[in-house]
Amino acid sequence: MRGVGGRTRVLFVTTEYAPFSKVGGLGDVAGSLPQALHRAGVDVRVVTPAWPGVLDRVSASGLRMTVLPERVCAAYDWRVRDAEVVKAEVADVPVYFLRAEDYGGDMYPWHLDFRTASPFAVFCMQALELFRVLKWTPDLYHCHDWTSAFLPCALAWHRHYRTVGGRCVVTLHNVAYQGILEREPFMEASGLEPWSFNMEAMEFYGRVNLLKGAIVAANAVTTVSPRYAQEIQTYESTRELSGVIYKQRRKLSGILNGIDTRYWNPETDPHIPERFSAKNLRGKAQAREELLRRAGFDPRSKEPLVVCVSRLVEQKGFSLILSALDALPGLGAKFVFLGSGHGWIENALSQAGDRFPDTLRFFRGYDEPLSHLLYAGGDIFLMPSVFEPCGLSQMIAMRYGTVPLVREVGGLRDTVTDADAPGGGNGFTFQTCDAAGMLWALRRAVARFGDAEYWNALRARAMAGDFSWDRSALLYKDLYQTL
Ligand code: ADP
Ligand code: GLC
Repeated sequence: MRGVGGRTRVLFVTTEYAPFSKVGGLGDVAGSLPQALHRAGVDVRVVTPAWPGVLDRVSASGLRMTVLPERVCAAYDWRVRDAEVVKAEVADVPVYFLRAEDYGGDMYPWHLDFRTASPFAVFCMQALELFRVLKWTPDLYHCHDWTSAFLPCALAWHRHYRTVGGRCVVTLHNVAYQGILEREPFMEASGLEPWSFNMEAMEFYGRVNLLKGAIVAANAVTTVSPRYAQEIQTYESTRELSGVIYKQRRKLSGILNGIDTRYWNPETDPHIPERFSAKNLRGKAQAREELLRRAGFDPRSKEPLVVCVSRLVEQKGFSLILSALDALPGLGAKFVFLGSGHGWIENALSQAGDRFPDTLRFFRGYDEPLSHLLYAGGDIFLMPSVFEPCGLSQMIAMRYGTVPLVREVGGLRDTVTDADAPGGGNGFTFQTCDAAGMLWALRRAVARFGDAEYWNALRARAMAGDFSWDRSALLYKDLYQTL
């Protein structure tokens, strides 16, 4: 089953691909893991939809794009759905952007129904057909989350593809999003055998669950941290789906994410006022001043600067943050938030900014350059997640010498240890999922910040961590080979 020279051929099937399309960490992983796999000797290629604006960003980045002579075609809902294949090489990894009407709308729908789910099913089928256009046949497909979960389902239960054969790894980045929709007209339109709508396959409490189908159908399932791999087998974490995951646990493993350490690098980052490193932190002090200024605070403030870059959703612990708002001015710290998401969280943060202008500033929106200034200029990075499959933000923060303050859950637990633990850790942690737990950790962090020697040692430990993909890419490579 191996390609030329024994290299495993892997097609990465992803609906986000940073820096050209990204909503959260899935985009970062898709943008950096294939490059690490390539360096580890895997023949990896990527296929991703050309959502609106994606090809403009590819072109603006200076990459050369070529349109392949043939289009890729798939049959869905009794129609031929075809797409133009636009190829670019990103750090020696071939990436195929599929351009078609199906990918002309918003990237992710707020509401999933037959109409809004269709682009994701079409994308998976076009990924299965891509080998005809490329004259390159993958040994296996590597899919991610519910948005490419249709692919392993098709390999198992589609009228045509189940007889074609193919192997598939599915990575669970976030089990909270499962791709649940009504049975009809989806089952009929998708070409899945009607008998796959049963509780051992796609059916989930009377509806279709794409992620469940993928977990059952895939040859291997991975998730993005060892701790999350354990948590999702429990009812407390994953409710009804936990039984399915528990049953499939023999093919489940947790492989910790890395970050793109070339991109997230304070020594070369073009978005910060002055570059810096663990040895020379002058640039960090400059970024701090600049951030305080942008936030409307006194740039010479000596109070610890707590930053947070996040999707504004319940997962990230905003119920804890919002119920602690009134306590923040008494802590002796400044807070800067950057994020977008649920309107009720956006409104609450912006009202808090109006109420406490000397303590809190909220930047609404998704802003890549500004996020770099927060990572670089902060002293403490706040991430009190209710659950966290892996979390990249805390790793990025540590690389920029911003000490994370996190809840001990999922990948946060696998990457951050408490400063007061024996031997000294790289951040501050708390366990209970409530505002009191978070405030307890914040008070400790603020008190420790006053001790410059202690803080310098803590920050140095955080910056010394290895957050690269090197180790984890080899674990994926081994997994591919065992398949
Ligand atoms: P998740 O994928 O659950 O959102 P991660 O920590 O894995 O969480 O990854 C989040 C990624 O998205 C990080 O790269 C973070 O910097 C980025 N991000 C989140 N919100 C914003 C924002 N408002 N502006 C810029 N970048 C953001
Ligand atoms: C998801 C998770 C996050 C993880 C990211 C990349 O968005 O919420 O914890 O880091 O995927 O795997």
